Amino acid sequence: MQSPLPPAAFAAPKPSLTTPTGGSVFVLPDRAALMVAAAERIVGLAASAIAERGRFTWALAGGSTPEQLYALLATSAYRPRIDWQRVHFFWGDERCVAPDDPQSNYRMARQSLLDVVQPPELNLHRMHGELEPSAGADSYQRELERVFQAAKSDHPPRFDCILLGMGGDGHTASLFPGTRALQESQRWVVVNEAQGLAPGVTATRLTFTLPLLNAARDVMFLVAGADKSQRLAEVVSGKHSGPAFPAELVRPETGAQWFVDDLAGALLATPAAVHE
Ligand code: 6PG
Repeated sequence: MQSPLPPAAFAAPKPSLTTPTGGSVFVLPDRAALMVAAAERIVGLAASAIAERGRFTWALAGGSTPEQLYALLATSAYRPRIDWQRVHFFWGDERCVAPDDPQSNYRMARQSLLDVVQPPELNLHRMHGELEPSAGADSYQRELERVFQAAKSDHPPRFDCILLGMGGDGHTASLFPGTRALQESQRWVVVNEAQGLAPGVTATRLTFTLPLLNAARDVMFLVAGADKSQRLAEVVSGKHSGPAFPAELVRPETGAQWFVDDLAGALLATPAAVHE
């Protein structure tokens, strides 16, 4: 593949605020600008990882928000700017359904991005949601050990980027408030039961654990919509009653990088102008 095109003239946003746990929050003026800023950041992270280590290990988020980012990366404006042959795709969580099920996070990524950019099939490290759940979690743990050449007893693998969303209850990946998976300190992938879902949505999930999330070189949250504004303000400030929300517990060394639109960021203290 020809080397990716040079980055377009894009003024990277400046943080609107920092979080008490060393993270940064970028409030973009609208959803479209949010997706552009996120796409530009993925382009930059991929270029750095490939230059330094020959590959970009990227764990995708599920749900509805990231689909717009994936679709943007699949457009002619962005597709040429990443060397997709050197990208390894993973999933931070998956519903325990078949890969062709409408609820599958893998299926969503395939349709919005992967079928267009066509990375090598061997670079698609899918969570096998169709397996008996604990077998699926064990299988993914072994896949991570293989791909990162790490042993279970080692420090968790360091992903170049883990993309995460946040639910209105403060969950992220499939780490839901008050669930057992939040206490996991050794395993990298476990089975968990989602909560508060609409009828008919599969509750049993496979999910990265906090030790794996917090080992990442980079963790990027993508949050949009007014329905997230109250919880986002609580999570990034840490100011709320009760225990920390799962999204609040994602504290990589480099600090979580929150990319949010104006609606989700509406209640954040002192959102400075993002583009000076
Ligand atoms: C999933 C996601 C989940 C998602 C949040 C936000 O499998 O659903 O991993 O953690 O990121 O629920 O979802 P939305 O982007 O649809 O609001």
